[in-house]
Amino acid sequence: MNSEVKQACVIGWPIEQSRSPLIHGHWLKTYGIAGRYDRVAVPPGEAAAFIHSLEARGLEGCNVTAPHKQAVFEAADWRDPSAEAVGAANTVWREGGKVCVANTDTYGFMTHLAQSAPGWDKRDAPVALFGAGGAARAIVYGFLDAGVERVRLINRTPERAEALVAHFGSRVESCAWSDRARGVSDAGVVVNTTTLGMIGNAPLDLDLSALDRDAIVADIVYVPLETPLLSGARARGHRTVDGLGMLLHQAVPGFARWFGVRPEVTQALRDILVADIERK
Ligand SMILES: NC(=O)c1ccc[n+]([C@@H]2O[C@H](COP(=O)([O-])OP(=O)(O)OC[C@H]3O[C@@H](n4cnc5c(N)ncnc54)[C@H](OP(=O)(O)O)[C@@H]3O)[C@@H](O)[C@H]2O)c1
Repeated sequence: MNSEVKQACVIGWPIEQSRSPLIHGHWLKTYGIAGRYDRVAVPPGEAAAFIHSLEARGLEGCNVTAPHKQAVFEAADWRDPSAEAVGAANTVWREGGKVCVANTDTYGFMTHLAQSAPGWDKRDAPVALFGAGGAARAIVYGFLDAGVERVRLINRTPERAEALVAHFGSRVESCAWSDRARGVSDAGVVVNTTTLGMIGNAPLDLDLSALDRDAIVADIVYVPLETPLLSGARARGHRTVDGLGMLLHQAVPGFARWFGVRPEVTQALRDILVADIERK
């Protein structure tokens, strides 16, 4: 391989489904960079060894998807505060002989929210967030960092929500799944971070009738692009925020580190991803 060609990849198990090569491939072409970005299947238990062999493999770094986000976080030499806050990493690069990691899901979600629903932070109202998994952690951190006073977690398994309350402290509270319609009634932003609404899964069954019309409804599921939650919210006149923008924006910091150009998330890039999602 030509050493002038900078290379990065995404690792996961399985990895065929990853859309990251579409995003980075588009940017490499757009900015005329002689680079490569590939999918690499890394079996469970082998991610730590992989990130410590980046240099030997001629890689600038990598993205990390399931099931390796925690293992890579633990194996890193240096962790950005974004990864420390979440306890998981999705972006890896080499710097000064060290393997460094960050979690760019927070950046991806918050950037897309600010662009799609400007002024979302003007209301002094709680955020109601469904789910308590890895993505929920990243997004709770984003809202707290943005100064939100109250984040209400609504999760099927209450112990997982309680674990996040214990991790993040008094600005985060939990609400029973059975009480979810009431749990969103005074919210300024409602976010789904569960897998409900994804193609093949049941929708998130949520009565929005008590929700203020000014409230914003976001879903991080992006297959389908418009989940039943988002279409129901749109029909009631709410501003909605889809999951695809988060996916596109979370890729920006990694590309900038590996290839030296801070790329833009454009409509042309979005169109490529939309076409791919609609094809499958
Ligand atoms: N747009 C993006 O860029 C982006 C980025 C990251 C993730 N995502 C999407 O976000 C979703 C969550 O990812 P994750 O990594 O956080 O997953 P995860 O850690 O496995 O968490 C899954 C969450 O979904 C909940 N859940 C699953 N099945 C459920 C059901 N039948 N009823 C109620 N709750 C249910 C789980 O609740 P329990 O705790 O009760 O099991 C948990 O809160 C996935 O759809 C993923 O594709 C999107």
